[in-house]
Amino acid sequence: RTYISRIQPAVSGTTGELIMADIDNLQDGKNFHCDVPHTNPPFALKGSGSLDWGMKNRLARVFDPADGHTLMLAIDHGYFQGPTTGLERIDIVIPPLIPFADALMLTRGALRSSISAEMQKAIVLRSTGGQSILKELSNELVAVDIDDALRLNATALAVQVYIGGVHEHESIRNLSAVTNAGNRYGIPTLAVTGVGKEMARDARYLGLATRICAEMGAHFVKTYYCETGFERVAAGCPVPLVIAGGKKLPELEALQMARRAIEEGAAGVDMGRNIFQCDDPIAMIHAVRSVVHGSQTAQRAHELYLSLKADRRSEVNA
Ligand code: R5P
Repeated sequence: RTYISRIQPAVSGTTGELIMADIDNLQDGKNFHCDVPHTNPPFALKGSGSLDWGMKNRLARVFDPADGHTLMLAIDHGYFQGPTTGLERIDIVIPPLIPFADALMLTRGALRSSISAEMQKAIVLRSTGGQSILKELSNELVAVDIDDALRLNATALAVQVYIGGVHEHESIRNLSAVTNAGNRYGIPTLAVTGVGKEMARDARYLGLATRICAEMGAHFVKTYYCETGFERVAAGCPVPLVIAGGKKLPELEALQMARRAIEEGAAGVDMGRNIFQCDDPIAMIHAVRSVVHGSQTAQRAHELYLSLKADRRSEVNA
């Protein structure tokens, strides 16, 4: 009764009658569970427990909360390579693959021009660039400001970082600038470790590069798999690691690499050429998914690839 008497009518009619139907039949709540301590909602993603709600929610769109893993489809290669083989027509090749990915990693140009705004998957927006394959690759700038990232409803921002590269310092400055801007709005940052041609992709280098990115504030880090010591790279990085696919490999080898990376601590893949340069990209993304989100061995995933590819060929020929 006291509670009801404190409620002020929101609107009065011209004759002074109360227009607020929902104050009728107000009942005291009963289900307070006073004997049950409040539960803080869990957030299991590595290194992410102290983040704010919006940041966590965006990360949960990239990393499936069911297993903490992600299959990101990387199609950003054109930002320095132009019309990369397999990505000559993003508008034709990529839409059929989207349902099987957790996130798309791409440039704002590709997103606006070639991807439907009805897409529901997470968008990891490449935010740095500024060179081509004809020039020094580490010479990048922040190309996308936070306002445009917000307009595009970006789920995360991606920044290339060149540890040991000619422009190492500038690339770390780019990472800091993008992370600071993203932190203001709850948008996480993916640091992408770019490895110069002259550098060894070994555990020591990758451990150095990924740890620096995480310490500078990246919320997840993309790196390469290495045959020896990858579990130390993953353990030494306090936020989730995803691996790039790298140059096109035979399908079984690409699946073996993904399986081993997951077993040794990666939270997923950000794979491009090993999917979109396959004979059958749809069959391959299914196979990669069975490795990243299932317990499928590389061998079984490869069998899946071959059988889906055969089925799809016979459908086309029927
Ligand atoms: C590289 O700089 C790009 O960001 C690509 O997204 C990355 O290399 C992953 O693609 P791929 O699996 O083809 O290596």
